[in-house]
Amino acid sequence: MRKLIAAMKISVDGKMEGPQGSADLVEAWSDDYGLMPQIDACVLGGGMYPGYEQYWTSIQKEPDKVVWITGRAPTPAEIEWSRFAAQPPHYVLSSTLTSALWPNTSFVRGLEEIAALKQQPGKDIYLVGGARTTASLIDAGLVDELRLIVYPLIAGKGNALFATTERRRGLDLRKVQQLPEGRVSLIYGIR
Ligand SMILES: NC(=O)c1ccc[n+]([C@@H]2O[C@H](COP(=O)([O-])OP(=O)(O)OC[C@H]3O[C@@H](n4cnc5c(N)ncnc54)[C@H](OP(=O)(O)O)[C@@H]3O)[C@@H](O)[C@H]2O)c1
Repeated sequence: MRKLIAAMKISVDGKMEGPQGSADLVEAWSDDYGLMPQIDACVLGGGMYPGYEQYWTSIQKEPDKVVWITGRAPTPAEIEWSRFAAQPPHYVLSSTLTSALWPNTSFVRGLEEIAALKQQPGKDIYLVGGARTTASLIDAGLVDELRLIVYPLIAGKGNALFATTERRRGLDLRKVQQLPEGRVSLIYGIR
């Protein structure tokens, strides 16, 4: 069965973004998890999808222009992800969204559709976020692996990755790697 792999960037105090919903603790949204060769589908929450689509579309169209989340020109690794990003099918969990710019995007109304997706043949599936979607899919026992990049920062006020998580779950540490500028990559199997 294909694995569903959640991957997020967080501060040491577990925040995935600031209080206004701006993920300004992250300097670039490149695939620092090494997922590109391994996945051929993406799952996202309806809260983050419109901004995600807008961010990567603007980099695809104008790779030299400053982008709005980071306030910088995209890095070479972001440009690489922007070329890859719109190709695999995107499955967006939402009961309200109905339209997307990317032709490979479809809307998923319930978790049973994610369970069915895992049964289909293919490579692994990247759970891009956001927090509430990641929490609900982990609670439902659908996420096989959690990849975190921990930034050397106590963010203080902000939105926590696991704020809406309801169930306790054990993790198996699979890999730890020190990254540049004090970041740490952690890979856990979810029991
Ligand atoms: N730090 C990082 O690495 C990282 C990565 C990605 C995103 N983010 C941040 O994440 C933020 C968005 O996260 P979020 O928690 O606000 O929203 P989200 O998880 O992207 O989306 C939540 C929405 O998804 C739908 N949904 C989620 N679970 C569902 C379920 N079990 N069944 C049906 N629908 C479900 C609902 O949409 P409807 O209301 O339409 O039904 C819900 O309102 C963004 O602001 C972004 O900055 C951070």
